[in-house]
Amino acid sequence: MKIGIIGSGHIGGNVARQAAKAGHDVKLSFSRDPSSLARLASELGSNASIGTPAEAVQFGQTVVFAVPWAVIPEALEQAGDLAGKIVIDTTNQFGPGAKPAPGETAASFNAARMRDARYVKSFNTLTARFQEQAARRDGDERVVQWICGDDPEAKKVVAGLLEEMGYVPVDLGGNADCAVMEAPRRAGAVYGEEYRAADAQAVVDAVRARQPIPPTPSYP
Ligand SMILES: NC(=O)c1ccc[n+]([C@@H]2O[C@H](COP(=O)([O-])OP(=O)(O)OC[C@H]3O[C@@H](n4cnc5c(N)ncnc54)[C@H](OP(=O)(O)O)[C@@H]3O)[C@@H](O)[C@H]2O)c1
Repeated sequence: MKIGIIGSGHIGGNVARQAAKAGHDVKLSFSRDPSSLARLASELGSNASIGTPAEAVQFGQTVVFAVPWAVIPEALEQAGDLAGKIVIDTTNQFGPGAKPAPGETAASFNAARMRDARYVKSFNTLTARFQEQAARRDGDERVVQWICGDDPEAKKVVAGLLEEMGYVPVDLGGNADCAVMEAPRRAGAVYGEEYRAADAQAVVDAVRARQPIPPTPSYP
């Protein structure tokens, strides 16, 4: 698959690295210092290239959106037309910038800002360092990456990508249902917590039933 990366820092760089390792082609974009994009591209090898955000969007069937919250409007302006693209939003609502209304999820808020995109939220609940370390674990120790979004086919594509990167994809539901995967870290949320497959279904069931999720699991 061809994947455009908008924001190639901790999270975007990680996803690019893992996607390239899995054999996908990535186009890196959106840095104040284009030489940093060139350095990452040369580290990733022939699967990687660099460009502008608009070029990354044109390049990718899927676009990974990994920029600080405050910069989202600027990145979207530079990205241009997202119509028909699967956009994986990794962002969390820290720092300045317009925020979701009370009761509105950040996913719903951002999906509305990316109206024509096939919006999927993922990669946002775990630190970049942990994601890097935990990718490609084996068997029962594999780590969950949660997904939400309103486009079932887009979520299937993202789930496939997550599997290839070495995670367990788990679909929490639609954009409006995924408050538990959003910041801040708190009791009753999966945000900031490691989950493995064995503990994921109970969370999905609780979210679907609009009930509190079970206590956060801990692993040896
Ligand atoms: N880091 C984590 O552990 C983590 C975990 C889950 C989710 N997230 C979320 O993922 C998103 C990306 O986080 P990150 O940690 O990957 O951020 P980051 O390392 O700071 O990367 C941000 C990217 O945006 C680029 N950028 C372009 N213009 C910018 C500007 N004016 N100000 C700041 N950056 C600019 C940066 O490029 P240059 O710096 O080269 O200019 C860099 O490529 C955030 O919304 C964050 O909340 C982060």
